[in-house]
Amino acid sequence: MVKVKVFDSSAAKASKRQVMEAPTTDAGAFYDVVDSRRSVRIYADEPVPEEVVRRAMDAALKAPNSSNLQVWEIHWVRSAEKKAELAKYCLGQPAATTAQELLVFVARPDLWRRNNNRMIAHLRSIPKTPEKAFQYFEKITKIVYNQGPFGVFRPFKWIWFTVRGWSKPTPREPISLAHMDVWAHKTTALACQTFMLAARAEGYDSCPMEGLDSKRVKQLLGLPRRAGITMAISMGKRAEGGIYNERFRFPQEDFIYEH
Ligand SMILES: Cc1cc2nc3c(=O)[nH]c(=O)nc-3n(C[C@H](O)[C@H](O)[C@H](O)COP(=O)(O)O)c2cc1C
Repeated sequence: MVKVKVFDSSAAKASKRQVMEAPTTDAGAFYDVVDSRRSVRIYADEPVPEEVVRRAMDAALKAPNSSNLQVWEIHWVRSAEKKAELAKYCLGQPAATTAQELLVFVARPDLWRRNNNRMIAHLRSIPKTPEKAFQYFEKITKIVYNQGPFGVFRPFKWIWFTVRGWSKPTPREPISLAHMDVWAHKTTALACQTFMLAARAEGYDSCPMEGLDSKRVKQLLGLPRRAGITMAISMGKRAEGGIYNERFRFPQEDFIYEH
């Protein structure tokens, strides 16, 4: 039996990989984007150029994501009728009804195996793919992400990971379909944030929305049962009074812990 070690720090340091230079970046420009991103509830009647939305989606899909399995989808709702319907399913909130563009970010935990197979095919197409990479997608992901039909593997995985965890550090999740949902939503949420920052960098605004009827939204988009709506995001230019208040956060010492 091949013994698979997921992470091997000494081998990683010793291996010769190509050097990827880090370009010089503009921290000031980045913090301007972060500081000026606000959730906008009322948008101006100014359209968003198509290429701006496309660039922001492109940026979103460059977000880090678990195992690079990319279990996300962006549904850009462009037809006027569907947009009106979607705004209604976003409970008629002004952030949706006044939006120039509406997108729905969808978590697809159910697509892990399809993407895993695509990843293996991709690795096969690259010359000199390290054996470790194949091991990861041919063995490890298939153990970690496979929860069995209706999640029946859960008790077995729980016993296995718990017993293993007595003697060494062991991943505890995902061992259920609910964990798989969390797993896919984490990845998709990073795409959401990247999208909103990209929109701001382009001079446009956004509002994330989870105040919606997920069942109706899924029906509208033709999504299967296991798909999950991470959030809808509206986009446009802020109207006067479109931001309801000054940004407020609790003191940072309530949230930042140093160990
Ligand atoms: C997951 C998520 C869901 C949200 N849902 C809504 C929503 O349905 N409607 C809305 O007006 N704002 C929504 N917001 C925006 C938050 O209310 C907003 O981010 C928060 O008040 C902080 O304001 P800021 O984004 O301007 O910094 C949501 C934000 C997140 C991250």
